[in-house]
Amino acid sequence: MTNGLSRRALLSTGLGIAGVGALAACSGASSPKMSDSGSTGRATPVSLSAVAGAVDLGGVTVNTWSFGGTIPAPQIRLSAGDTLHAQIANHLQADTSVHWHGVAVPNAMDGVPPITQQAVAAGSSFDYRFIARNPGTYWFHPHVGVQLDRGLYGALIVEDPKEPLSYDDEWVLVFDDWLDGVSGNTPDAEYTALTTSMSGMGNGMGMGMSMGGVGTSTLLGGDAGDVTYPYHLVNGRIPADPDVYDGKPGARVRLRMINAGSDTAYRVALGGHRLTLTHTDGYPIDHQDVDAVLIAPGERYDALVTLAGGVFPLVALAEGKNALGRALVRTGSGGTPPANARPGELDGMLMSAAQLTSEADARLAAKAVARTHRIKLTGGMGMYDWSLDGVKFDMNDPAAHPYLAAKGERVRLEFVNTTTMWHPMHLHGHTFQLGATGPRKDTVIVLPGQTVTCDFDADNPGQWMLHCHNAYHGQAGMMGLVSYAA
Ligand code: C2O
Ligand code: CU
Repeated sequence: MTNGLSRRALLSTGLGIAGVGALAACSGASSPKMSDSGSTGRATPVSLSAVAGAVDLGGVTVNTWSFGGTIPAPQIRLSAGDTLHAQIANHLQADTSVHWHGVAVPNAMDGVPPITQQAVAAGSSFDYRFIARNPGTYWFHPHVGVQLDRGLYGALIVEDPKEPLSYDDEWVLVFDDWLDGVSGNTPDAEYTALTTSMSGMGNGMGMGMSMGGVGTSTLLGGDAGDVTYPYHLVNGRIPADPDVYDGKPGARVRLRMINAGSDTAYRVALGGHRLTLTHTDGYPIDHQDVDAVLIAPGERYDALVTLAGGVFPLVALAEGKNALGRALVRTGSGGTPPANARPGELDGMLMSAAQLTSEADARLAAKAVARTHRIKLTGGMGMYDWSLDGVKFDMNDPAAHPYLAAKGERVRLEFVNTTTMWHPMHLHGHTFQLGATGPRKDTVIVLPGQTVTCDFDADNPGQWMLHCHNAYHGQAGMMGLVSYAA
């Protein structure tokens, strides 16, 4: 373990569950009352310091932005019902914020400036405080510009005090497409290049496959992405110097996989093993054995695996981009596979959310849909005018692009993809259900030409972003606002 990501390691370093010991230091006037439904009354204090500086990705050092100089940030772990109290100190020379992806936080804690809070200005700090009610695999990242494509991200694990699965250990795996600080590039420069080199080229002449996208993928139904990345990281490491999980053959391990990338879907497999998928986006699914799983930016999958003996590559293939990230599992002797090793499981039986079903207890209760928003995914790579319903979202004028609801309603979102590219659509503050029996999720892949139906209950009033989790598409304007009052 180079990254201290197992439960054992966390306990021994005093993070995670042991952090609850600091409860006394944190219980102030605003600590949760026992009467809050679902609250344990315990608090987990965490400090995150956003800094600019050098980070070693495993032999490649980049200048980037991170929390405390590590990528991913130190894992945050608490038990369902506990209150996270995260103090964010902004030592950058730029505004930032933290969004708690997938967690149904109160709206004021959602981290979306200027809509749910003022930006955390350079040199200032902000306290996020909320009860983590639902167990599951979540993560956190900024919600300002294209900062998602820097190193300011980490895993947020909410443990289930009545965990129904049995396993010996956990391994959190965070995948990320990386360009910041490589050859002088930054996400902002990349965005400028995408918007200026493409637009103004006129009416599509010369904008075929050579201009549009970086490659194609059958799984993704067309263009794989807009951006070519020099590196793909697993737990902040390049393939040549990977994170290593040291364990014992026969151990049952829960993988918690998070795609923190900005433009890349990862096809993930562990050489020599099958995976039993158990959760997506924090919610339980009917268990499904697969060889590989497709994970889009913002999505998470949990899987159980029983480790064989030897050395095995855990590969995150950058779908349609002819590149990969990897980590290693080592449970016995054996040579380290070459950095570009591509296990056969990647081409075996693969699933994504569309083929999975929600565990019965996690399904939405039967209820009539009160309101349907049919939302067209619009725009394209050529003009870089990614949008919803043909309107580019403006953070400073969000009301111009609302999808209204009323508290208590069952709301249906129908995403109609009219573009030639897939989009990972994400709703803040809620989880939706795919179709009648599909998984509960907060982020869903919508393929070109496809319509995907997502139902959710309007039980968390506020102003909630609904957007493509491709950082560059979101920045271009592929965002909207789901809005309802208490
Ligand atoms: Cu990871 Cu607006 O979200
Ligand atoms: Cu998109």
